[in-house]
Amino acid sequence: MSHRSTAAAVRMRAVVIGGSGQLGGWLLRVLAERGHDASGTFATTAFPGLVPLDAANQTAAADWVRDQKADVVFYPAGFTWVDGCERDPGKARAANVEQPLNLARAAATIGARFVYFSTDYVFDGRNGPYDEASEPRPLSVYGQAKLEAEQALADTLGERLLVARTTWVYGPERQGKNFAYQLVKALREGRSLPSPSDQVSTPSYGPDVAQAVVRLIEQGRSGLVHVAGPDLIDRVTFAKTLARAFGLDAELIQARTTAELAQGAPRPLNSGLLIPRLDAWLPGLMRPLSECLRDFQIRLNEPGGWVRPLTPNLDA
Ligand SMILES: NC(=O)c1ccc[n+]([C@@H]2O[C@H](COP(=O)([O-])OP(=O)(O)OC[C@H]3O[C@@H](n4cnc5c(N)ncnc54)[C@H](OP(=O)(O)O)[C@@H]3O)[C@@H](O)[C@H]2O)c1
Repeated sequence: MSHRSTAAAVRMRAVVIGGSGQLGGWLLRVLAERGHDASGTFATTAFPGLVPLDAANQTAAADWVRDQKADVVFYPAGFTWVDGCERDPGKARAANVEQPLNLARAAATIGARFVYFSTDYVFDGRNGPYDEASEPRPLSVYGQAKLEAEQALADTLGERLLVARTTWVYGPERQGKNFAYQLVKALREGRSLPSPSDQVSTPSYGPDVAQAVVRLIEQGRSGLVHVAGPDLIDRVTFAKTLARAFGLDAELIQARTTAELAQGAPRPLNSGLLIPRLDAWLPGLMRPLSECLRDFQIRLNEPGGWVRPLTPNLDA
């Protein structure tokens, strides 16, 4: 399986709600590389080529989506701050359930398919990693909202829906918010980084997640699919591996228990996603962490590789 995109056989018209975000940025890039015609939106953080859209303005947002005459609407948007969702359940539900449902209905009126992004936080973390047949039991407001959205969207859209669950997404990113960027910033400043040693999951490389989801849509897939990396590791090991890849002092990463860290929302501990469906449909697409970290470094040196937040002396 080649990870560099080549043009797809059939050209699609695509819309990416949340094109300014981590996965949204990669979806737009992969769609363009594969010869599709794609438009992306931002809510608060503008980038060239993106159009403003606030999904909370439900009528205007639905009108815009209907006007796009798209074949597919990707929705890598929402209120993604897990601890913030715990503090504001009303906003969590509005942003992660009601707003995507509104735009899914708009997509359905123009015959477009809809792609929603969900999470392994729909599971309780007692006995992961989980496959698509595993029973969800969310612990947090964020996980509950994501599960509610999965179910409401499936009821509304049926075969027009693809739900991609992913987890611990990392990699080059325009806004520089993901865990890899937070880690590099802290360690470069010589700050120690407390990290939960008892949270286990399957880190997922953003470019591979986007590549997988676009190719699944090209194949006409629908339903629920897990899209995650193949390495099942704890957060401290993940952090130390990232630190070493960027030549930083891994000793600054301090192992703590989840109980000690007292994060705002409960986390699934033994979690992570198994990917039997993706492996059957697109074998070998999700690369191991070691290979993704090499790709991460290479991409940062490319034009448009979203290097800035990781360039020494520029990111203070
Ligand atoms: N990152 C992970 O580890 C992870 C794991 C599992 C599942 N997921 C899911 O995957 C999806 C993408 O995650 P991500 O990490 O790429 O998220 P992200 O970087 O936080 O991006 C979120 C996007 O949503 C947009 N957005 C926020 N509020 C909006 C609104 N009211 N109307 C329209 N757009 C709005 C943001 O726009 P602005 O930035 O311009 O405001 C941004 O483009 C999310 O649904 C998330 O729940 C992520």
